Amino acid sequence: YATTHDADIVVIGSGPGGYVAAIKAAQLGMKTISVEKDPTLGGTCLNVGCIPSKALLHNSHLYHMAKHDFKNRGIEVGNISYNFETMMKYKANAVKALTGGIAMLFQKNKVQLVRGVGTIVAPNKVEVKGEKGIETINTKNILIATGSEVTPFPGVTFDEKQIITSTGALSLPSVPKKMLVIGAGVIGLELGSVYQRLGADVTAIEFLESIGGVGIDGEVSKTLQKILAKEGMKFKLGTKVTSVRKEGSVVKVDVEAAKGGNKETMECDVVLISIGRRPYTRDLGLEKVGIALDDRGRVPVNNKFQTTVPGIYAIGDCIHGPMLAHKAEDEGIVCVEGIKGMPVHFNYDAIPSVIYTTPEVGWVGKSEEDLKKEGRPYKVGKFPFLANSRAKTNGEPEGFVKVLADKATDVILGTHIIGPGGGELINEAVLAQEYGAAAEDVARVCHAHPTCAEALREANLAAYFGKPINF
Ligand code: FAD
Ligand code: NAI
Repeated sequence: YATTHDADIVVIGSGPGGYVAAIKAAQLGMKTISVEKDPTLGGTCLNVGCIPSKALLHNSHLYHMAKHDFKNRGIEVGNISYNFETMMKYKANAVKALTGGIAMLFQKNKVQLVRGVGTIVAPNKVEVKGEKGIETINTKNILIATGSEVTPFPGVTFDEKQIITSTGALSLPSVPKKMLVIGAGVIGLELGSVYQRLGADVTAIEFLESIGGVGIDGEVSKTLQKILAKEGMKFKLGTKVTSVRKEGSVVKVDVEAAKGGNKETMECDVVLISIGRRPYTRDLGLEKVGIALDDRGRVPVNNKFQTTVPGIYAIGDCIHGPMLAHKAEDEGIVCVEGIKGMPVHFNYDAIPSVIYTTPEVGWVGKSEEDLKKEGRPYKVGKFPFLANSRAKTNGEPEGFVKVLADKATDVILGTHIIGPGGGELINEAVLAQEYGAAAEDVARVCHAHPTCAEALREANLAAYFGKPINF
């Protein structure tokens, strides 16, 4: 058991940003050490984020479909019910398989793991406080990938049973009868729809007049709200929560109109607070090496992910930009390539966003609201899934694809999808945008028939030529 190690790079945090960066660094020939404080690898995304939420979203969707839609499709299966405990076990198994997979990838790529809380004690030295004591790592480079945590609600203590964060929502012992969700952003909509499908009476309270969080196109947001409301989710928009308290077995939530006036007290068994996340840099010792956080608690970096201290870099949720796993991963890769002297290029205009509700929402680039604000002339190509043969045949005709292209050059500026497989389909739009494609470029690419992707092609056709074929 060595208490001192030498490394070319120490990556603090093994979330999607950190673990991917560590593997890439080792593949590029650096002696790489990953430091992780939690018992399992994978960070927020694998343990309490992307992966467990998608397991619950998928299985609650299948249940909901079996219960409410199978009959119309000629599938008779008698009484449909769910076993919540098994659903949760299924989720836990998915998490276990994937977090264990990272440990295997570390072995395969010769990334050394040091368990414990990492602190930067000098520009070339990291101390790790673990169960066995303190280990010291002397290193040429340090990569901070410590991620984010839930934004607390002033005056509220989370018991993770009745007053919960997303982490509690991923491990409830049973489905609540009445659930309030504070914040109709990505987490509120995804986890709210899980419990709504399983039979809870869910109301989402949102400060803004629209749902879906930052960056969503207004028309998509309205369509999603309409569809979710039809499914039974309730929304209270333009409403702010002033206090949350427990009274016996009931949680009371005081709300008032965002503009003031109109006060009301709402009751529920469980309240999910999902009002955003904030960077996590506690215990990191940044002040000791002279790295000052910005006004939002983020680690400031330049376009090579270098902090103000030479040899110390940062990526992922703890720096600027959207808090998304794929963004953290890609930053991790180009950051370590940069350390090896390779070019560092990162296009923040081509990062997809997906909300994994049913139907899925996916977008990349500018929304109509963005373009109006910028005063940039644009044209719109829209195509409804109702007119897409595959979506119609599958009985999933809701939603549309909207392509926004520059009025003069036809270059694609944004793509917005709400509809079947929107989270998969958006990747084609990202590819097009990353390569600077014009709407005509995508419209002229042969697409397999019958697929929902043809709706993307038709929307591009509508954007460049003015008219699609099938609508
Ligand atoms: P994290 O994943 O937060 O990892 C940071 C790691 O650093 C953690 O393991 C932490 O224990 C460790 N750490 C911190 N400080 C120290 C220290 N001093 N010493 C040692 N270790 C330390 N994103 C998507 O793209 N798609 C989704 O579908 C999606 N779903 C989500 C669902 C939920 C409910 C939540 C909460 C988030 C979701 N996200 C999703 C966001 C995604 O999880 C984050 O963007 C992503 O995990 C960020 O990666 P990261 O590597 O920057 O940080
Ligand atoms: P969010 O930023 O998406 O949404 C928070 C919502 O809460 C906003 O709409 C905001 O207006 C509202 N809000 C804030 N304070 C409020 C208040 N006091 N009362 C009422 N409403 C209030 O944040 P969320 O949903 O917590 O998710 C955090 C982050 O996690 C996301 O921004 C995203 O980066 C990541 N994530 C990504 C997912 C994905 O990619 N599919 C899934 C889940 C999370």
